[in-house]
Amino acid sequence: MRTLARPKNRYICQECGFESWRWMGRCPGCDSWNSLVEEPAASFAPIGAGDKKRAIPLPLTEAHCLESARLKTGLEEWDRVLGGGLVPGSLILLGGAPGIGKSTLLLQVAKALGQKTGKVLYVSGEESCGQTRMRAERLGCVLPSIYILAETSVEAILAAAVELQPVAVIIDSIQTVSLEEVQAAPGSVSQVRESASRFLRLAKDNGIAVVLIGHVTKDGFLAGPKVLEHLVDCVLYLEGERHQSYRLLRAFKNRFGSTNEVGLFQMGGKGLEEVLNPSEWLLAERPAGVSGSVVVSSLEGTRPLLLEIQALASRTAFGNPRRLAAGMDFNRLLLLVAVLEKRAGLPLGSYDIYLNVVGGVEISEPAADLGICLAVASSLKDVPVGDRTMVLGEVGLAGEVRGVTQPERRIEEAARLGFTSFIVPETNKRYLQKNLPDLDIIGVSTLAEALKIIFRPH
Ligand SMILES: Nc1ncnc2c1ncn2[C@@H]1O[C@H](COP(=O)(O)OP(=O)(O)OP(=O)(O)O)[C@@H](O)[C@H]1O
Ligand SMILES: [Mg+2]
Repeated sequence: MRTLARPKNRYICQECGFESWRWMGRCPGCDSWNSLVEEPAASFAPIGAGDKKRAIPLPLTEAHCLESARLKTGLEEWDRVLGGGLVPGSLILLGGAPGIGKSTLLLQVAKALGQKTGKVLYVSGEESCGQTRMRAERLGCVLPSIYILAETSVEAILAAAVELQPVAVIIDSIQTVSLEEVQAAPGSVSQVRESASRFLRLAKDNGIAVVLIGHVTKDGFLAGPKVLEHLVDCVLYLEGERHQSYRLLRAFKNRFGSTNEVGLFQMGGKGLEEVLNPSEWLLAERPAGVSGSVVVSSLEGTRPLLLEIQALASRTAFGNPRRLAAGMDFNRLLLLVAVLEKRAGLPLGSYDIYLNVVGGVEISEPAADLGICLAVASSLKDVPVGDRTMVLGEVGLAGEVRGVTQPERRIEEAARLGFTSFIVPETNKRYLQKNLPDLDIIGVSTLAEALKIIFRPH
């Protein structure tokens, strides 16, 4: 008689999800070491046979909507990045490089929540209560509604949270806490995964917003298993240059809002201050009348950001010309340089090209293409583009300039900051002239046309 083979256990990579029937030291999927964990094979009973648990589906019309219950902190940049405030019962992961200001930001969030909404539990696995108090004193966050706990045992933290019933729990950091029942060191793949899933239960069962701080690896990714990113509702990153004072808060994943929003902060002695007028701030140190500098507008979520692009084209000393891009995709720069050579006839083959987006902001939108091209051309010819000129447009391989989304909002923001001349795609111009008749809007349909405009004698 044939018998059914017993299902075999599988080994699953906790980093990338690769599955294997046998254990391997190194995952062939993502090359990480010791990340394959044995998963017992599930044994399935036939559907309907002896089901003990009953789950009752709910008509969607009867489900409770949480939108009105969002916890607004009043820290506008934080609220906007989250899509309008913290959702009760959500699990959020905040990542960032060491010393960037993660603990500072969340202590300030705790203060805002403590003042307006209710109790907040701040769990520090890295610092003692005294050290947290010292930071809180500096930030002006010493409130009776903020409770601190210097603890690394997940079981103890969960028990304390359930007893206290705060509106939010902050875990600083997920890599330092551990479950006693998991036989692995804190910060290891299985510890982080299991601890995070306990915090998920805490959040969902009690309606508490839980924020986990996560460390990032040297490549800039969140340390720990990839499943952590699937598990949580939002993944936020706090970014910034170590030697500069600004910090950018970005949503990488958000189940309750857009992922395009950025929040801008400035680090000071009193903690992170919101920068409510980022464009003005980013352009504050722009040199006047210098070639190679062009202002473009990048739409970050609902807010247009005006950014300065600086290019430097200098003659290649020997060998191959060098290309360097900071704040934009390197391959995009290569593509635009090729278009400039082929379609506009600029002799860039014998020039090194360096490109920088000022302020450390990353441009991912093609709407900045034309601005990048004009910055390179302006530096090559050593002819400045007007100080009060903003450039918009996507550049195609044929050298054509294509329309961008929401040009009106971008131009209104620039006009508010004193820009008077706008080089935009022809397709956008027709629409803009109707709505903004008082502004000097120049439409271009090819890259060559745009170059003619900036190089014409003024
Ligand atoms: N007395 C101070 N005055 C001004 N800024 C300070 C002061 N103390 C700390 N800072 C700023 O706060 C930053 C550290 O912030 P914080 O401890 O919140 O970072 P973190 O991301 O939590 O770091 P870690 O990864 O070590 O936990 C420092 O890099 C510094 O810029
Ligand atoms: Mg910290």
